[in-house]
Amino acid sequence: GAGWPGVILAYRDRIALPADAAVVTLHEGNTPLVAARHLSELTGCEVFLKVEGANPTGSFKDRGMTAAITAAVAEGSRAVICASTGNTSASAAAYAARAGLTSAVLVPRGKIALGKLAQAVAHGARILQVDGNFDDCLELARKTAAEHPVTLVNSVNPVRIEGQKTAAFEICDALGRAPDVHCLPVGNAGNITAYWRGYREYAADGVVPAAPRMFGFQAAGAAPLVLGRPVADPETVATAIRIGSPASWAGAVAARDESDGLFHAVTDKDILAAYRLLARKEGVFVEPASAASVAGLLATASDGRLPAGSLVVCTVTGHGLKDPDTALLGMPEVEPLPVDPGAIAAALELV
Ligand code: F0G
Repeated sequence: GAGWPGVILAYRDRIALPADAAVVTLHEGNTPLVAARHLSELTGCEVFLKVEGANPTGSFKDRGMTAAITAAVAEGSRAVICASTGNTSASAAAYAARAGLTSAVLVPRGKIALGKLAQAVAHGARILQVDGNFDDCLELARKTAAEHPVTLVNSVNPVRIEGQKTAAFEICDALGRAPDVHCLPVGNAGNITAYWRGYREYAADGVVPAAPRMFGFQAAGAAPLVLGRPVADPETVATAIRIGSPASWAGAVAARDESDGLFHAVTDKDILAAYRLLARKEGVFVEPASAASVAGLLATASDGRLPAGSLVVCTVTGHGLKDPDTALLGMPEVEPLPVDPGAIAAALELV
């Protein structure tokens, strides 16, 4: 294809993949870094949004999946498996379809957003709804992959992290430096691990003078990293990060400690307030989990832990269309109007 080649070819010399691997790509990455005027005013910082919903399947997972599926094909694998709260399964299903592989996805029953399920169905994944949560699904996927000829494409597969770290490269390339602070939602903790790797590599090679402080935000009902212990029954409106036992726990703690960062829990109420603010004031429609980074931005700006004047990037991880049910919550039933200009004007209170 022409134009942007996707994250692996864009950063080929920085991605640990066999040199002769045939790259499976949907031209993911190169996502917008949007100046957030309203959030900048509210916080006294210079805030940008890294809009990962603009990826081919609508989330940041595509960055890791191009790498994972490329590696799986290079190894001669015929089938892939993952556990997912929805976005990983949508991405795995799409990239597996493109590569001609079979995909199987294990999802917590009733706890994945409608758009994500629709994607897995559309791409022809074998969908296994499990009577358990994400943590149960991941354990089942790991056991299945350990005992059968099927490749695990969750972020415990290190090649996923290699792909996902490219978001940090893009941000530095766009800003000409790293931000002072990077905010992101944390669930299974692969993404914070990947960003930190990307920033560290650019800083170590002198591409940027310094790496940012990493601020990781979890939903209050699913905040194992904030609490310092696993959560048996995680619960939150942000189903993407409804995770009690993050696989990349050590990577997340290293990112926080090495960067002088922090973890913080945000309530569902604050997540939904940030979700609405993003859509209504910035014009950026994200899924609830993505809004956790902005809820955390606002919380740490008001409690003083985010210094005024900072250059801040918030990753908004997934598109709002992933979860139409949350967008429509509380929408009143309305009678359709007659084909009559007067009725339209009256409905809009113009007369
Ligand atoms: N935001 C969204 C929209 C996600 O889908 C996820 C993770 C996260 C944030 C958290 O990222 O797990 O790397 O800390 N979703 C996974 C999935 C668990 O199955 O799609 P993380």
